[in-house]
Amino acid sequence: MSANILFHLDEEHEMIRQTAGDFARNEIAPIAADFDESGEFPYETIKKMGEMGFMGIEMPEAYGGAGMDTLAYVLALEEISKVDAAHGVIMSVNNSLYCFGILIFGTEEQKQKFIRPVASGKAIGAYSLTEPMSGSDAGTMRMRAVRDGDHYVLNGRKSWVTSAPVADYVVVFAKTEPEKSHRGISAFMIETNQPGFVRGKKEPKLGIRASATSEILFEDYHAPVENRLGEEGDGFKIAMTVLDAGRIGIAAQALGIAEAAYEASLNYAIEREAFGHKIGEFQGISFKLADMKTRIEASRLLIYQAALAKQRSKTTGERFTLEASMAKLFASETAMFAAHEAVQIHAGIGYSKELPVERYFRDAKITEIYEGTSEIQRLVISRLETGLR
Ligand code: CAA
Repeated sequence: MSANILFHLDEEHEMIRQTAGDFARNEIAPIAADFDESGEFPYETIKKMGEMGFMGIEMPEAYGGAGMDTLAYVLALEEISKVDAAHGVIMSVNNSLYCFGILIFGTEEQKQKFIRPVASGKAIGAYSLTEPMSGSDAGTMRMRAVRDGDHYVLNGRKSWVTSAPVADYVVVFAKTEPEKSHRGISAFMIETNQPGFVRGKKEPKLGIRASATSEILFEDYHAPVENRLGEEGDGFKIAMTVLDAGRIGIAAQALGIAEAAYEASLNYAIEREAFGHKIGEFQGISFKLADMKTRIEASRLLIYQAALAKQRSKTTGERFTLEASMAKLFASETAMFAAHEAVQIHAGIGYSKELPVERYFRDAKITEIYEGTSEIQRLVISRLETGLR
């Protein structure tokens, strides 16, 4: 029994959930451990996911997407992440951080040029906000974009860019008027095959190892004016709006990890015996399962609420910041909690690479960090609730 029942998933939603789950179990599960071990990018499965429409679920068919809604997106992402969170983040970044921002802020030409290849799975997108010296305090970025006739010349260094080593396009944020702080930031569409775009050092990571993360250097990169997203100075608002969408994706990724950790633990608790009993008969284990299950279902409700709020915003234009941050905060802490308990319930074998439980534990941690740490989510939620700063 799951909270899905509250939402009475209709045939279309049930179908995407089933399709994504089947794909993940049949195609991703057999390779997940090897790609985690090697840290290689899973081109083949990502290409297949693109062909199935998973890279632009919410994008209109006119731009190469699947034309579905936000609930469909989170259902599919949860199923993929339940099997492998690395595939989950690649999918989340393509859908939310990349395509969604262009859909909301792009011109018709930009939508055709930059959404279509990524939403249809022929190319990979990335989003680049963070710098070595500005993470949580995104407004203090140093990267510069200087207008020169019909171009901007971009110079600077970005870090922690998911999919940067393999991306064809990147949405990047740079200061056009440094003296104006966050109001002096603008957004640009970057084509990575152009001179001046340099892929930097690849990050060796604790988890989500099959997703590729690196620095990017801009060395006199020339971006045509028509590749600016929104107006000059709109960049910070674009970055934040897009992150609201991204945070719902990361929440769904975290839910998938938590569910995987829980299901493995439940099965183990029912099978494994100690002191002449199934270990699930001991409260030390069964109460852990109860807490995991309860937090997972609470996460699901927050995520579906956020998905509905985002869906509504497509017609009303209302922000869904609060719903997105609450879902991301709760689901990511649930993923870490569930993965931690899963290792403990499995004990020795949970610490071994024989089972994927240790991978869930390593993968869960990043959900509390990227697209805004848990501390940033608490700051966003409390500011919105109190009206204080
Ligand atoms: N939607 C629209 N506008 C927003 C907004 C939102 N969610 N949040 C803020 N704004 C607007 C404000 O209304 C304000 O507008 P005005 O200029 O008109 O006043 C402006 O943006 C500045 O807002 P704040 O004063 O609140 O800005 P701040 O400097 O205090 O910072 C913050 C706010 C919430 C801390 C923000 O900096 C933040 O979210 N930081 C975390 C950054 C982050 O998540 N980074 C992750 C990068 S992506 C990644 O992880 C890698 C990857 O590839 C996956």
